[in-house]
Amino acid sequence: MQNTTFRFFKEQLARLAGGYKLDVPACPVKLNQNENPYDWPATLKQAVFEHVREQDWNRYPPFVPQEFTARVARYLNVDPTQVLVGNGSNELLYAIFVATLETGRKVVIPQPTFTLYKLLAELLGAQVITTGLGPDMQYDAAALETAARDASVVVLASPNNPTGSVINPMDLEHLVQTTSALWVVDEAYFEFHGETALELVRTCPNLVVLRTFSKAFATAGLRFGCMVCHPDALTMFAAAKLPYNLNIFTMAAVEVAIEHAVTLKGRLEEIKRERERVTRLLKASKGVHVYPSRANFLLFETDRNPRALWQSMVNRGVLTRDVSGYPGLGKALRVSIGRPEENDAFLKALEYAITEVPPEAKS
Ligand SMILES: Cc1ncc(COP(=O)(O)O)c(C=O)c1O
Repeated sequence: MQNTTFRFFKEQLARLAGGYKLDVPACPVKLNQNENPYDWPATLKQAVFEHVREQDWNRYPPFVPQEFTARVARYLNVDPTQVLVGNGSNELLYAIFVATLETGRKVVIPQPTFTLYKLLAELLGAQVITTGLGPDMQYDAAALETAARDASVVVLASPNNPTGSVINPMDLEHLVQTTSALWVVDEAYFEFHGETALELVRTCPNLVVLRTFSKAFATAGLRFGCMVCHPDALTMFAAAKLPYNLNIFTMAAVEVAIEHAVTLKGRLEEIKRERERVTRLLKASKGVHVYPSRANFLLFETDRNPRALWQSMVNRGVLTRDVSGYPGLGKALRVSIGRPEENDAFLKALEYAITEVPPEAKS
C-alpha cells in the first residue's frame, strides 16, 4: 500500500496491516484455534432459538444489560458492579487498552503470548515491553516486577497461549499489591486449569480478570466474554466500550449456557485427560519436546522445519498451528486438544511428518 495514496492512516498501521492473519486450509481434523471440539447439543441450540424468537428484533437491547450482567455475576460469584460484558473477551481487551494506552505509555506483554495484545497496544501507539517469561516459558516474577515499575499496564494470560504456562497466585498477589500498574489477567483457559485471580479483584483496584465463553463453554462462534474488576475502575472502562455491544442472540445463548453449564462443560474432564495422554505420548516420541500445559492445547518443538511439518500434517488432513513466527519459538507448533480420535489422528500425522521431513541442519 502506498502511503502517498492513503495519508489519513496512522503511521503505525503500515507496520501492523495484515498483522493478525490466519492460514486455515480446510482439514477434517481442526486443531488450530484451541476451540472446544464438542458442539452444543441440538436441544440447547433449540432453547436459544426459542428465547430469541420471543424478543423484538426491531428494538435495541437494553442500554446497560443489568439483568443479564447480574446473571453472569452470579455465575462467577462476584458482585454485578464488578462485571462488564462484551462481544468476546477480545472486545473488552480493546476497551481496556483504549482506556489506558496511548503514545508515551508502556505496556508489559511477556512474549511469546496471544498475538492480539501487542497488535492492539501498538495500534494505540503504546511502547511494548516484552520481558516476563523465562527461557523455560515460565513467568518470571522478578522480571515482571522490574518491568511493571514504569509501565501503565501489564498483560498476562494464565494459562498463557501458546505456552500453556500459568502465573503463581502468590507471585501475582505480590505483584498487584506492590506495583501501581494495571494488571490484566486473561483467564480464557481458566476451566482447564482451575486457579483464578477473581478473589484478588475484591481488594485490588488495579487488577482486571478477563474470561471467555469461547473455550470451555464451546461458544466461540457466538462471541461472549466478560471482565471483572473493582467497581470504580469498571465505570472508567465502561466509558471506553461501545454501547449495545451485545446482541440479543448472544445474550440468549449465554443465559442458556449458564443454565446448562454442567452439560456444556461436561467434556472438560475428558479434554484434560486427553491433554495428559497426548503430552505423555509426545514426550515418548523421539525428537519431540513438549511443554507442560494447563490449557486445552500443547506447545511442542522438533528438529524439523516447523512449516514443512505443519504442511505435511495438513496433507494428511490434520490442521495444527505453526507458531514458529512467535518470539523465541522458532521450532514450535501448537496443537489443540480435540476428541480422542482427532488426537490419535494428530499423533499419527506427526509421526508420519517426522519421517517425511528431514531434520534441519544445525546452525
Ligand atoms: C489468551 C486468549 N485470550 C482471548 C482469546 C479470545 O477470546 P474471545 O473469543 O473471548 O475473544 C483467545 C483465543 O484464542 C486467547 O487465546
